[in-house]
Amino acid sequence: MLKGKNIILGVTGGIAVYKAADLVSKLVKQHANVEVIMTEGATKFVTPLTFQTMSQNKVHTEMFGLVSHFDVEHISLAQKADIILIAPATANTIGKIANGLADNLLTTVVMASKAKIIYAPAMNTDMYNNLIFQENMNKLKTLGHKFIKTGVGRLACGDFGAGKMAEPLEIVDYVINSFVKKDFVNKKVVITAGPTIEPIDPVRYITNHSSGKMGYSLAQEAKNRGAEVILISGPTHLRPPDGVEIINIKTTSEMFEAVGKHFDDCDILIKSAAPSDYKPINASPIKIKKGSSDEDNLEIKLVKNPDIAEYYGKYKKEQIMVGFAAETNNVIEYANKKLKKKNFDFIVANDVTKPGAGFKNDTNIATFIDNKGNIEKHPLMEKTQLSTLILDKIYDIIDIKAR
Ligand code: PMT
Repeated sequence: MLKGKNIILGVTGGIAVYKAADLVSKLVKQHANVEVIMTEGATKFVTPLTFQTMSQNKVHTEMFGLVSHFDVEHISLAQKADIILIAPATANTIGKIANGLADNLLTTVVMASKAKIIYAPAMNTDMYNNLIFQENMNKLKTLGHKFIKTGVGRLACGDFGAGKMAEPLEIVDYVINSFVKKDFVNKKVVITAGPTIEPIDPVRYITNHSSGKMGYSLAQEAKNRGAEVILISGPTHLRPPDGVEIINIKTTSEMFEAVGKHFDDCDILIKSAAPSDYKPINASPIKIKKGSSDEDNLEIKLVKNPDIAEYYGKYKKEQIMVGFAAETNNVIEYANKKLKKKNFDFIVANDVTKPGAGFKNDTNIATFIDNKGNIEKHPLMEKTQLSTLILDKIYDIIDIKAR
């Protein structure tokens, strides 16, 4: 999600420096190019070698060091930065920047840069609450600098209170968010994700291979772009994105009810879940014992579950509905039939037999088919990238309708 982005990470001297190494690793995983500038204080906690290894880039520490090739380092760093992220940001560094001091490489780069500046402060609670620090922070906020909220908890000094640096995952989310366009503000998006499970008896059930990754990734993308997101999820092992409303369900009938509660006032419904089409006609209230009907065979009669998309597709008014089709053969033909039968605006067809596509993977291979007959084939890509394309396509539909 951060491909092609240059992030200058300023690391200042506080015990939370150890978390900054994890932060670099997480930013690099998002394909960002990370260049680390450490203040002298930071190098007392962790060596530059740690950050060099994690970022795969030279770590900058000195303002007046001799260089192997000539460029004015603080100017070239300042110019190439898309974002300057300072984490952990001490009261000292924040104070210097707020008061126009440029006495080390980091504060000089900040002074020389037009990039967005983001701080993840980390300090003792009394320092955090000190009016001098609060004034410095507010001054920078009025200049457009951004501050990631500190956590409340037990600090390294033993005190309990505000001033704990935000977790690396939160910081990465914040950074990703600051690059994303906010084109879904005031839109309510309902997303279904994951499998459903249909009980056979209290210990057994019917389910499928859906991990929820596709739906959770869509929820994250919609949230990042400013939408109000309701994520209706079958059982998964995933952590829901921060700031989305999660509704946990187990069965297709429960998913049907949950969609019903939000359908009338939603703008967009994305059906990425893999609901079970059938369920046992009578789930046994007690564990079915071996040989209870016939020693070698056990027959379980199934009955059809409601087709959620088909049902709400009949009632939709202004809502945009996006479906998925998980197919193993005749992909386009079957997806097209589902598109029409369920009244989707477009359908995302994935051939789940292809390596890297469909269930469980972090990647997918998709073809979009819309209700005007347009077909767009996409190559293998991360589910996060595919989510961006799906939201882009929805945005185009909204845009066309608004004209
Ligand atoms: O969760 P992952 O591991 O990331 O995997 C992603 C995925 C393969 C589950 C996803 O990409 C996908 O294809 N989801 C749809 C799976 C599915 O149920 O496909 P289908 O062809 O059976 O259903 C067609 C559409 O009708 C789907 O939008 C489905 O959500 C919906 N449906 C199906 C059955 C039902 N009873 N009610 C429905 O609304």
